[in-house]
Amino acid sequence: MARLILGVTGSVAAVKAPALAWALREAGHEVRVVATQSAIYFVRPDAFDLEGVGLLRDEDEWPESGYERGDPVGHIELRRWADALVVAPLDANTLAKFALGLSDNYLTCVFRAWDFTRPVFLAPAMNTMMWESPVTLRHLRQMLEDHGEPPIPAGWRLDEASTVFARYAPRIILIPPQSKRLACGDVGAGAMAEVDRIAAIVGEWSDRAGVTADSPEVAVPDGSTIREDKAEGQATHRGPAIVPR
Ligand SMILES: Cc1cc2nc3c(=O)[nH]c(=O)nc-3n(C[C@H](O)[C@H](O)[C@H](O)COP(=O)(O)O)c2cc1C
Repeated sequence: MARLILGVTGSVAAVKAPALAWALREAGHEVRVVATQSAIYFVRPDAFDLEGVGLLRDEDEWPESGYERGDPVGHIELRRWADALVVAPLDANTLAKFALGLSDNYLTCVFRAWDFTRPVFLAPAMNTMMWESPVTLRHLRQMLEDHGEPPIPAGWRLDEASTVFARYAPRIILIPPQSKRLACGDVGAGAMAEVDRIAAIVGEWSDRAGVTADSPEVAVPDGSTIREDKAEGQATHRGPAIVPR
């Protein structure tokens, strides 16, 4: 089973993150939650007090004791430890930071330092006007440009995003939001995909990645597959385990 980082950002859908952590844990994965400050507004830290799940917050990167040469750097150690990064919910702000390369908190540092031979699952959650804003499309296109395999197509639409990512940046698995009545009362696209669906997509990757030692194929949401080199995946990790509080 895989070592997973669950990034949680400041969307109302953060209240579902403990259920997702639990589902991933139940599936046998090791889970380390990295929550932004805004996420903690929506979900109490003790909601992640689940067996086999640890919570990391920004202050864990900045201990009061200060930094001594040779001390581990949390986001780098955590990135080395993890087989995959799951960001659910991914809010508009953190999507923008990911796209632009900003790294001003624990989670954005993990993403900025990420080894993109390992998968990143992104489950956006935001108001419909935010999701359908041209800014969202611009940021997704930027991520594809930076992490995709050329030739990257031009002019694709928001509703094509997960398919285009699956084809050109298969290590970034975009789990599109669903349409429904949102917490703010608006009706439309932007609600985070169901927890079960996110857990199933991660589970499908982990099952397929663990099938054989020799480059099994990994399923992505549009039904296509990618090659997974076990040596880059869950089999080999040399970094020390992070012990979160
Ligand atoms: C009540 C409330 C609900 C919010 N819901 C969302 C949301 O669902 N999606 C989103 O993108 N931003 C939402 N925001 C805005 C983010 O919390 C805000 O942009 C914050 O700075 C995000 O920080 P983070 O990306 O570091 O977690 C909400 C803000 C408030 C006050």
